[in-house]
Amino acid sequence: MGKECKVSAIIPTYNERENLRPLLKRIAAVLRQYEVIIVDDGSPDGTGLLAEQLAAQYPVRCIHRSGKQGLGSAVAAGCAHARSEIIVVMDADLSHPPERIPVLVAHLKGSDIAIASRYCPGGRIAGWQAQRRLISRAAQLMCRPLTAVHDPLSGFFAIRRAVIRGMKLRTKGFKVLLEIILRGKGKRIVEVPYRFMDRKRGKSKLGVKEGVRYVKELAYLYGIRCKTKLAMAKPATPSSRG
Ligand code: GDD
Ligand code: MN
Repeated sequence: MGKECKVSAIIPTYNERENLRPLLKRIAAVLRQYEVIIVDDGSPDGTGLLAEQLAAQYPVRCIHRSGKQGLGSAVAAGCAHARSEIIVVMDADLSHPPERIPVLVAHLKGSDIAIASRYCPGGRIAGWQAQRRLISRAAQLMCRPLTAVHDPLSGFFAIRRAVIRGMKLRTKGFKVLLEIILRGKGKRIVEVPYRFMDRKRGKSKLGVKEGVRYVKELAYLYGIRCKTKLAMAKPATPSSRG
């Protein structure tokens, strides 16, 4: 690792053994001073073990957690260990092209959150079946009243660490970016288009369970939005004059 580490890339993994080596190789080709933090939930396929071995070759650390605890909580755990002021979050399955990391980081010059976006103009999705596209769109629609961001459910984004300083992330599941947008300290948000590639190896962990969790966590985020509105609607307490 370079003396000064400029980017911490947080990568949650659960059974991504086949993707890890090509992923780290591609990251190394585009970043100079960086660290990769793998947060592995005891993957039965030995992803965590491989990460330890690859640490001899790449600036990578692995946080091992016992049992599958959810993508969002893995991101939070990774952020707690990050050494740099710039944090990049991405999936391990090569759906998120590492070649876009420098572009995201460059966009943080004028913003707090830079989102790699599938749904802003220029964004693309390659390889998804109609059903998965539909689920993604439905999830998107459900949070539209909360934010104007085109892809608030993206798993690929860069933030200044200050955005989440002192914040306890509650999202256990997939919607961690949405929570950061709504509860974090980042006001300046930019979306950078990219081409999402469906994974070639391993399996997606998005299932019915994640769907249910998403709806529950969304309800929580709608809840805090309502409370904020109520608090603003209340008349200011009259100042006590004599
Ligand atoms: N540590 C840990 N624990 N990692 C996990 C867990 C978990 O419980 N669940 C998933 N991961 C890891 C996977 O190994 C992968 O690196 C990444 O998180 C994303 O999981 P996938 O299973 O590949 O998710 P996906 O492709 O279906 O969903 C992607 O698109 C969604 C939007 O459509 C992700 O980018 C999501 O973040 C995104 O919301
Ligand atoms: Mn994936």
